[in-house]
Amino acid sequence: MKHLIDIKDLSTDEINELISVAKDIMSNPDKYAEKCKRKKLATLFYEPSTRTRLSFEAAMMELGGNVLGFSDATSSSVSKGESVSDTVKVVSGYADIIAMRHPKEGAPLVASLKSEIPIINAGDGGHNHPTQTLTDLLTIQCEKHRLNDLTIGVCGDLKFGRTVHSLIVAMSRYKNIKFVLISPKELEIPEYIKKDVLEKNNIEYIETNDIEEYMGKLDILYMTRVQKERFFNEEEYIRLKDSYILDKQKLENAKEDLCIMHPLPRVNEISVEVDDDKRACYFKQAKYGKYIRMALILKLLEIK
Ligand code: CP
Repeated sequence: MKHLIDIKDLSTDEINELISVAKDIMSNPDKYAEKCKRKKLATLFYEPSTRTRLSFEAAMMELGGNVLGFSDATSSSVSKGESVSDTVKVVSGYADIIAMRHPKEGAPLVASLKSEIPIINAGDGGHNHPTQTLTDLLTIQCEKHRLNDLTIGVCGDLKFGRTVHSLIVAMSRYKNIKFVLISPKELEIPEYIKKDVLEKNNIEYIETNDIEEYMGKLDILYMTRVQKERFFNEEEYIRLKDSYILDKQKLENAKEDLCIMHPLPRVNEISVEVDDDKRACYFKQAKYGKYIRMALILKLLEIK
């Protein structure tokens, strides 16, 4: 049985196959409408979510399956002290596959050790968010028509932003990828991503705190929110939260075919005036998330 806890659980061939299936689902939705008939997806969300939970649920429904679960741990027996392991053992008897989001790093991994059905990590603390990364890869493939030869700017909270960590890990497998890492000093990318991922794979990267400095060189600009929920000190959050606000003026030197991405939710980091720019891809990106999750559910349930 296979789980998806970390994007590294998937080989490059498997990622490419998921992208290919997701594109086929987009083109031929009827072909997939009953693939998961009588199958059930449980969404166990111990932390808030809009896109991930609802796109998983929509994905299972569009495959002809059903969904159950909780979106607020306080409404489950977790509030009485039940452990993740016990919850998962019980839910294994009610569903065929579980998508779990948890504020503690490693909780979905612990769950996978006890589960009798596949577990999908739908985000664990500041650690990983592999299905967001699959969403991002599908977006890049559909919008740029390639996963190689890209200069990618990632901007904002690179310290706590789990989507950024997983994206860098995934993109480091492809050829001729360069990163421009844009953040305030306090929210720089963790040292282990620089050493164990970028430097180990000989990926060229530049660190800067200026969003405009390299704008004209970027093929992709991946904006992120400052992760309020990961700060211990509110004053520090307030000081850093508006470090970057992307607006039309900052895009003046950007390429005509720049792809602007954001995992969402957005707070202030992209001005709404950018939404009408043809380069704004973040709402399309959220929609791509449903298709790649459909492909992932089929893969983990071993449905052809
Ligand atoms: N991108 C993302 O994970 O959004 P949600 O927190 O709304 O699921």
